[in-house]
Amino acid sequence: MKVVTCTAPVNIAVIKYWGKRNEELILPINSSLSVTLHQDQLKTTTSIAASRDFAEDRIWLNGKEENIQHPRLQTCLREVRRLARKRRNDAEEDTVSRILNYKVHICSVNNFPTAAGLASSAAGYACLVYTLAKLYSVEGELSEIARQGSGSACRSMYGGFVQWVMGEMEDGRDSLAQQVEAETHWPELRILVLVASAEKKHVGSTSGMQTSVQTSPLLKFRAESVVPERMKDMIEAIKKKDFEAFGQLTMKDSNQFHATCLDTYPPIFYLNRVSQEIISLVHRYNAHYGRTKVAYSFDAGPNAVIFTLEPTVDEFVELVTCCFPPESNGDPFLKGLPVNPTSLSQDLLSAAGSDQCPGGVRYIIVTQPGPGPSQSQDLSLDLLGSDGLPK
Ligand code: DP6
Repeated sequence: MKVVTCTAPVNIAVIKYWGKRNEELILPINSSLSVTLHQDQLKTTTSIAASRDFAEDRIWLNGKEENIQHPRLQTCLREVRRLARKRRNDAEEDTVSRILNYKVHICSVNNFPTAAGLASSAAGYACLVYTLAKLYSVEGELSEIARQGSGSACRSMYGGFVQWVMGEMEDGRDSLAQQVEAETHWPELRILVLVASAEKKHVGSTSGMQTSVQTSPLLKFRAESVVPERMKDMIEAIKKKDFEAFGQLTMKDSNQFHATCLDTYPPIFYLNRVSQEIISLVHRYNAHYGRTKVAYSFDAGPNAVIFTLEPTVDEFVELVTCCFPPESNGDPFLKGLPVNPTSLSQDLLSAAGSDQCPGGVRYIIVTQPGPGPSQSQDLSLDLLGSDGLPK
């Protein structure tokens, strides 16, 4: 039996992907750009074993066996195996050619609660494709395959700042992720994930964006006339480490994405009252200082992702804690990178403070840009035991 274990990161788009021109191949209607979050705080770990003793391909996600026949899973398995076959000489009887005929067992876990509504499909599919590629010793460009698991997953194949170039070709060969800058490029950048209390299950991205493509004229306008320019401006802001421009573009793009959701018919609402409170808190905070010190972004759910620079973290976290007093349930309110308690000036409190909303934010994860997927050399981290079943 051969076992390979790898980890892959979550990414947060600052120029959003919303809408496909090809559902099957997962080709987007616009390019997008994201920041890869550090795996110390958020990651997926996947172990894949291949053995001639396995009767069938099987998969376990977060401890539960799932259906391996899921079409997007099947596509990823098929495409990595195809690449592996293509890159070998058929006559060559080596280990890879041998294990290509074996069935696989796949076991995958997140180090963050899926229930928190944090996008896990990006890290999940990126990790699946990366681990399969290591198992079959496939090198080179893999974002094209990860994209076919979940669009946003292609961006989790790289660390740092990553663009997904929409491409033009019908077969999607040029719809790929590319690193814009490495994770070390902007060392002061910090990301706070504010996990909001959600009242109900929201519309999934796949079906949500389908309805938007069919009904929203604003989405069409956005893809054709707004995003191309914005991609250029965002890349420039990142290269120059210009937080003012980066923050403003990030907030405007998140707002436009949610505007296209409202323009979808019937409309989709991902932001809730807590999200709206966080948006106005950010604007009051920035207004108090007369510049953009923090920026928000929201995906297909109410959680806020805050971008800021290291010197601002302590104060802004204190302000959030003050506006959303934690309702203690035994869990720590702050997770991830350390935050120092600080006192807020009366000036700031009267300018930016608001009515308290106890328990509105369940907890905060403090993180920073991080690297792309990697293979683990530590055998104790394997999720599959010597019997090929989850440990
Ligand atoms: C709002 O990648 O989850 O997070 O391609 O259908 O799997 P599928 O959708 P998915 O959509 C992510 C949408 C988003 C914005 C983004 O990450 O760019």
